[in-house]
Amino acid sequence: MRFDILTILPELLEGPFNVSMMKRAQDRGLLEIHIHNIRDYSTDKHKNVDDYQYGGGAGMVMAIQPIVTLIEKLKAERNYDEIIYMTPDGELLEQRHSNAWSLKENILILCGHYKGVDERIREHYITKEISIGSYVLTGGELAAAVVVDSIGRLIPGVMNDETSALTDSFQDDLLSPPVYTRPPEFNGWKVPDVLLSGDFGKIELWREQQAIERTQTRRPDLYKKFIGEE
Ligand code: ADE
Repeated sequence: MRFDILTILPELLEGPFNVSMMKRAQDRGLLEIHIHNIRDYSTDKHKNVDDYQYGGGAGMVMAIQPIVTLIEKLKAERNYDEIIYMTPDGELLEQRHSNAWSLKENILILCGHYKGVDERIREHYITKEISIGSYVLTGGELAAAVVVDSIGRLIPGVMNDETSALTDSFQDDLLSPPVYTRPPEFNGWKVPDVLLSGDFGKIELWREQQAIERTQTRRPDLYKKFIGEE
């Protein structure tokens, strides 16, 4: 699977993909991440990538020319399954998005900045607008890293223990149950007896009950989905 990420701040994306699971996925040839500097495609003599907004008002707008030049170049080289724009006014990212995208081949991600991109880019190229939460970041780069990470870990072969992706929080609209490891008692704090019982039927039931209880108290919105009310 290949990601092309378009940004005016490529430095922000140098770190997150060069460690741990995302690095291993790239080393194994399961994942390609190409970061493109939008500024390199500006025909402006000062290599500007932003401009004042028509109609006046504070804040700059990401210019149309360098982004169109870059997207057209990339689209001529391959077909994209999705062209995502990272923006606080997009659809909220959910596990279902990442699940679906993990089965795709080519995804392009455009990172927004300032007041955003010229609306004509959104109209003519973007197939999905995504926000990672109801807060505003300085730009779309960290949000793009979140999207790539959440998709990348689902690509077959990327995780060592593939069954573990299926038991993650959100996979079936439930949060994960609590987990424990050795020792069975620390500072007088005990691991629940059931987990030490060796009775896997009971353990499974306990985990399911815990997951349901957690979801009900912490994420009533998810719980509604789980019980089919939404
Ligand atoms: N750019 C700025 N804030 C953002 C957010 N919350 N999600 C996606 N892109 C963003």
